[in-house]
Amino acid sequence: MSKQFTNRYLQGIFEPLDSEYNIENCIVNGQIPKELNGSLYKIGSNPQFVYSANYHLFGGDGMIHKIDFNNGVVSYANRWVRTNKFNQEKEAKKALYAGFRDEEILKQIMNGMFADTVNTNVIYHAGKLLALNESVTPYSVDLELNTLHKYNFSGKLDGSMTAHPRICPETGELVMFSYLSRDIDGKTINYYVADKNGKIIHKTEITVPYKSLMHDFAIAGDYVIFPLFPLTCSLAKLLNGEEFYTWESDLGCYFGIMPRLGNSDDCIWIHQSEAGLAMHIANAYQENNLLIIDACYADNIPKDANGFKPGSEEEFPAYLTRFIFDIVSKKLVEKIKLDTVACEFPKFDERYTGKKYNHAYVASILSDHWEGHEFNAIMHYDLSNNQKQVHDFGINAMPLEPIFVPKNSNSSEGEGFLLVFVYNKLKNRSDLVILDAQNVDKEPLATVKLPHRVPFTFHGTFVPRCG
Ligand SMILES: [Fe+2]
Repeated sequence: MSKQFTNRYLQGIFEPLDSEYNIENCIVNGQIPKELNGSLYKIGSNPQFVYSANYHLFGGDGMIHKIDFNNGVVSYANRWVRTNKFNQEKEAKKALYAGFRDEEILKQIMNGMFADTVNTNVIYHAGKLLALNESVTPYSVDLELNTLHKYNFSGKLDGSMTAHPRICPETGELVMFSYLSRDIDGKTINYYVADKNGKIIHKTEITVPYKSLMHDFAIAGDYVIFPLFPLTCSLAKLLNGEEFYTWESDLGCYFGIMPRLGNSDDCIWIHQSEAGLAMHIANAYQENNLLIIDACYADNIPKDANGFKPGSEEEFPAYLTRFIFDIVSKKLVEKIKLDTVACEFPKFDERYTGKKYNHAYVASILSDHWEGHEFNAIMHYDLSNNQKQVHDFGINAMPLEPIFVPKNSNSSEGEGFLLVFVYNKLKNRSDLVILDAQNVDKEPLATVKLPHRVPFTFHGTFVPRCG
C-alpha cells in the first residue's frame, strides 16, 4: 500500500486511511446546536494504492467523509468513490494508473487509459450528490455514500466540468464550465447552465485569450466571471515531453465578464498586466456598473517561478483580495489586498452566492511563512467594516475549509455555524469543530471527537435534513 513510499503527501494529515468506518453516536464535547440537522460531506484525496514515490495529492482516489447530525445525535461514515480506476485497481490489488508526475502516464493516456478520479468537491444539486474533479465526468453518489454512476447531465456534458460550479440561490441554476474538454489546446472553454432540475438549458463555447488552469469562477447578479491567470496548459507541450502547465507571467491576467445566459461574443475581457494567481474565488456581486470579486490571490508571482513544476516545493501565499471592475468602462477600477495574513479555502453563506454579502470565512496561516497548506486558524472577515475574528487552533492543529451552515432558512446573513475538520498533529486524529459563525474567536459550541485521522479534504457541502 502507500506505506512503501516516502512522500510528503503520504504522511501526517495526508496519510491515507485504509478502512471505511461507520461510527454511530460519536463522542461530543459541548452541545450540538439543536438547529443543526443534516449531513456534512467533505471529499479529499485518499489513494487506495500508490503507483510510485512521485505520488501527488491531486491524484489520489476520492474519499468522502460524512458527519450526520440528527437531533443532537452525531454519526460518521467514510467511503471511497467507486470510480472505474478504483474498481480496476481493487481487483488487481495494486496501482495500475500512473500519476501525472510519472513518465508512463503519457503512454497510458495515448492508449486511452485515463484515471477517472473524483476527489475535489462534493455538491448537492437537483436532489443529487455529485463528486467532482475538473478533469473528468462527475460521479453521482447517494446520501449514504454509495457510488451510483457517472453523471453527464443526460449526455449534454462534454467530458468534464469544473469542481467549483456555482448554484444561484434565486433560480436554483447550476452554473459551470470546463477548460479541459475535448479541445484542450484550442482557445475555448465550455460553459453550461443547468436549471434547478439539473437540465442543461444553456451550452456554449467561450473563446478565451489563452488557455490556462481555471480552477474556480464566480457568478455576480446576472453575470458570470471567468478569471484567467497565466498558468497556461497545453496537451501539445505534454506530448512533446514538456510540462502540461507552464507559468507565463508576461501574459498577465484576464477577467472575462459575460451575461449568465450569454455567448462568447457577449464576453468582455479585462486585462491586468500583473501576473498573479487565485485558485479560489470567495463570492462576487454587482453594484450598479461595478462588479466586486473577492478571491484568495497570490500577487506578483515572479517570472521565473518554478513552483508549478512537478517536484517543486515552492509555493505562493494567497491573500483575500478584492477586485472591482467597471463593466461600462471595461476597466479594473481597484484591487485591494484586504489582509496580510495568508489564507485559502474561502467560504461564505451560500444563500448569498452572486449577491452582495458581508461575511467571508477562510482557513489561515498565522505566521510569516507558507509551508504546504499548514493552516492553523479559521478567520471570519466582516467585509462591511473591515473587522476580523480569528480562531487560532495553535501550532499542533490544522483546520481545513470551514463550511457555513445557516441556523435556519430565515436567519440573517452569517447567523449560523462553521463546521471545520481539525487535525491534531500530536494525536494523529481529527475533530469536527462547530464554531458560532458570529463568534468565531470564542470557544467552539461543540467538538465531535473522531478516533482516527480524517486525511486532508479539499471541499464539500452541507445537506440539510428534509422534513
Ligand atoms: Fe478547489
